[in-house]
Amino acid sequence: MTDYIKMTEQALYDYLPDLNCREKQLIESMNYSLEAGGKRVRPNLVFSFNELCGGNAETAVPFACAVEMIHTYSLIHDDLPCMDDDDMRRGKPSNHKVYGEDIALLAGDALQSLAFEIMTSEKAIAGSSAVACCKAVNTLSVYCGATGMVGGQVIDLISENKSAPIEVLREMDYKKTACLIKAACELGCISADADENLIKAASKYGECIGIAFQIQDDILDVVSTDEELGKPVGSDSENAKSTYVSLLGIEECRKLVAELTDKAKNALMAFNGDTKALCDFADYLASRTK
Ligand code: IPE
Ligand code: IPE
Ligand code: MG
Ligand code: MG
Ligand code: MG
Repeated sequence: MTDYIKMTEQALYDYLPDLNCREKQLIESMNYSLEAGGKRVRPNLVFSFNELCGGNAETAVPFACAVEMIHTYSLIHDDLPCMDDDDMRRGKPSNHKVYGEDIALLAGDALQSLAFEIMTSEKAIAGSSAVACCKAVNTLSVYCGATGMVGGQVIDLISENKSAPIEVLREMDYKKTACLIKAACELGCISADADENLIKAASKYGECIGIAFQIQDDILDVVSTDEELGKPVGSDSENAKSTYVSLLGIEECRKLVAELTDKAKNALMAFNGDTKALCDFADYLASRTK
């Protein structure tokens, strides 16, 4: 995992546009949020599925970075005053606290376009074929758009100050969080030119760990500290968010996280290769403290 994180962080830095331009503050703002501090869960999934499907890690680099760029843009926007209004992220002041809301908004926009730019670059196509890059772009755009992450963020906003029923919470967590995690798993397989049945199995794994990931995030929002998480705890109750934790309580949520983690591990049975690293990763996410 450490090697994959190193590869991701070096490549993220290399992909950023040159600072020597009139819009320098935009590039600095993009770099500020991309820099070390995140757990790099999604790039690790891209690389791990690439490896499990017998791929070459180099071909996974643009896909891993693209998912991390979309994720980072979603966090910059999520922290804005018009959204969750949070002042800390990845252990530092939120992007808009440093660069202002206008530049933070635009840095998110620019990270989104950069994600699609790097997946369709000559180098990406030379590594993965034009068909694979096109499939990856289609997959990621569907999962991050109106019926994926962005849609989920809207369900989150309209569920504030309500006790949303469980099926609404499931759809919200699926869309706002699991979709990008699913995308990472599928992109890893696509980068290795894997068969459709393996992409489906990876997708199921991603869906289960993805929903568990958001439930765990909601648990940590109650039981952790700002220092440990690198972001403000109590944000959900302050914004009167409707979450699994507010509906079911912590203990029930812990059971759900364990159940979903088991389901995710079962989905890996479709693969012939060694799935231990991905089983361990699912367990690590379920017991994470940050
Ligand atoms: C936080 O994601 C936002 C959610 C989808 C719950 P991460 O917990 O992966 O954030 P970083 O990348 O490690 O900062
Ligand atoms: C965030 O959910 C989901 C996305 C950013 C898409 P949260 O609002 O719970 O994430 P944190 O807790 O701020 O990281
Ligand atoms: Mg939010
Ligand atoms: Mg938030
Ligand atoms: Mg949260």
